[in-house]
Amino acid sequence: MATETVQFGPVPECWTRQHLLGLEELSAEEITLILDKAVLFKEAMAQSRSGLQLLSGKTCVNLFFENSTRTRTSFSLAARRLGAQTLDFSSSTSSLSKGETFIDTAKNLEAMGIDVVIVRHRTPGAPTLLAQNLRCAVVNAGDGPHEHPTQGLLDIMTIRQRLGRVAGLTVALVGDIAHSRTARSNIWGLKKLGAEVIVCGPSTLVSPRWAEIGVEYSYSLDDILPRVDVLNLLRIQLERQFTRPFPSVREYAHLYTMDQRRLEKTKDDVLILAPGPINRGVEVTPAVADGPHSAILEQVTNGVAVRMAVLWLVGGKRD
Ligand code: NCD
Repeated sequence: MATETVQFGPVPECWTRQHLLGLEELSAEEITLILDKAVLFKEAMAQSRSGLQLLSGKTCVNLFFENSTRTRTSFSLAARRLGAQTLDFSSSTSSLSKGETFIDTAKNLEAMGIDVVIVRHRTPGAPTLLAQNLRCAVVNAGDGPHEHPTQGLLDIMTIRQRLGRVAGLTVALVGDIAHSRTARSNIWGLKKLGAEVIVCGPSTLVSPRWAEIGVEYSYSLDDILPRVDVLNLLRIQLERQFTRPFPSVREYAHLYTMDQRRLEKTKDDVLILAPGPINRGVEVTPAVADGPHSAILEQVTNGVAVRMAVLWLVGGKRD
C-alpha cells in the first residue's frame, strides 16, 4: 500500500473544488486532471483490488431518486476501493413519502456524519441545491436531462485510452439529445478538450441551437458516418418525454440503429460507445454492441476508475 499512497499523495493544490456538479463549469485542466488520476486508479486496481486507504474514515452516501444499475454500483465500488464506508439511500422507503423535503432529508443524513453525497435526481439543479445547503461534498450522478459529469468523463476516458487522444477527433452523439444528460456532459467535456462534436437524431430530438456553441447537428446518421471517429449511441429517454418524438420505435430504428450495414460506411477504426442501459435493436444491434469496435464494457470498467478519481478529489486529504 505504501507505494500507492506515495503515488497518489494528497489531493493536488490545483484542484480547488468541493463538489462535482457538471462538466460545463470545469476547465480543460481540471477535466484532464480527473482523467489522468483515473488512469492511475485503473492501473492500481488492475494490480490489486484490496483497496487503497485514501478515504478511510470517510462515509459516502448514494442518494438516488431515480433508477440506476451501473452508476450507483460503480460509485459504491469506487468509494469502497478507496477505503470509505458507503450507505445506500432509497427514496421509496424513506420519510420523503411522509412529506419531508429533499433538503431536510439530505440535512438529516449529513447530521449523521456524511462526507460525500452522491445524488441522482429527476430535477435539473438538484445537486446544486444540495451543494448550497450542505457542508459536505456533493457529486452529481445525473440530474434530469441536465448533466451526468462522471458519465461524460468515463466516455472521454474510454476515447482517450482507445484512440490515444481527444483533440481533433470527430465525436457523434446519436439519439435523444434533447433529454440526455449524457449528451450534455459529453458536449462540454469534449469541446473543452478540443474535439469536434456532432449531435445527430430526429429533428424533434436535436435542436439547431447547438450550432450557437459550435456543435454541429445532423438529422441523418448515414450522412455523417464516413467522417466520425467515435459514435456514442444514446438511449431514447422515454421517461423524460411528454410527447412522442417519432411515430414508432421501428421507424426510429430504421434511421438510427447502428448495425453492420452502417458500420461498413465508417472509418476502419471507428469506436462505438453507449452509456447503457442499451436497448438492443434500437440504438445498436447485438452484433455491433458485442463486436470489436465496441468499448461498451470498457466504459463500465473506466467508470469505477473515474469515480475513484472524483471521490478522492472532492473527499480526500489536502496538504
Ligand atoms: C445514463 C443515465 O442514467 O443518464 N445511464 C447511466 O448512467 N449509465 C443514460 C441512460 O439512462 O440512458
